[in-house]
Amino acid sequence: MKFLVISDIHANFEALRAVLAHAARKRRDAVLFLGDAVGYGASPNQVIERLRSFRTPVFAVRGNHDRVTLDPSQGAFFFNTNARRAAAWSSEVLTAPNRRYLERLEPGPRVVADQVAICHGSPADEDEYLFTEAEAAAAMERAPARVTFFGHSHVPCLFEMSPNRGGVVGVLLRGSRLVMDLDPARTYLINPGSVGQPRDRDPRAAYALYDTESGRLTLYRVPYDVEGARRRILAAGLPAVLGDRLLHGA
Ligand SMILES: [Fe+2]
Repeated sequence: MKFLVISDIHANFEALRAVLAHAARKRRDAVLFLGDAVGYGASPNQVIERLRSFRTPVFAVRGNHDRVTLDPSQGAFFFNTNARRAAAWSSEVLTAPNRRYLERLEPGPRVVADQVAICHGSPADEDEYLFTEAEAAAAMERAPARVTFFGHSHVPCLFEMSPNRGGVVGVLLRGSRLVMDLDPARTYLINPGSVGQPRDRDPRAAYALYDTESGRLTLYRVPYDVEGARRRILAAGLPAVLGDRLLHGA
């Protein structure tokens, strides 16, 4: 199976459009979406409509912003003021069919193929951030598959555990195109980065392809119309900082 892996779109239609144009000619059997379709950005309806229109199957889990946008009582207290305002605004503008799409998204983890799973934050908790090797080592105990994709931190990275459980090694994944051949004997937690709000100081949109047969993982970064996404955030009356951060990938 060949998977297109996308995460944390955050209502950034310009970024999603650029990623899908970049990936258009790459063969894929299914799309893996790791949650946070909405929140922060100004195009929640366009993003969800695009997610609903894939011709290939989409395996998805909900993100914390999807959950809070539907119901602020489900964790809005974790959010800073700007995130809370964006969630409230998104909730107001969502059309009924798009709201239903979010409501149908289930929390992860979800096994999507033999030895492949997806989740939002960590396999144990959709709100948990995985930044350190210690956090990843604990999360691997709960991982339902040998290769588990996660999002939430918006930082492309990979954690690898060798078969003798000799510890977990983590690496940040940088560059326009990065190819890694996964070892079939090892266990992985992989973050493909964020489509719509990168936070690793690289403002380009991020996504990944994963081929289960060859074990090849390819990470891409794609330039997009950042200024257009930022303008749309300002025009919607959302906090300016949500647009400005896109310029810096922070
Ligand atoms: Fe997110």
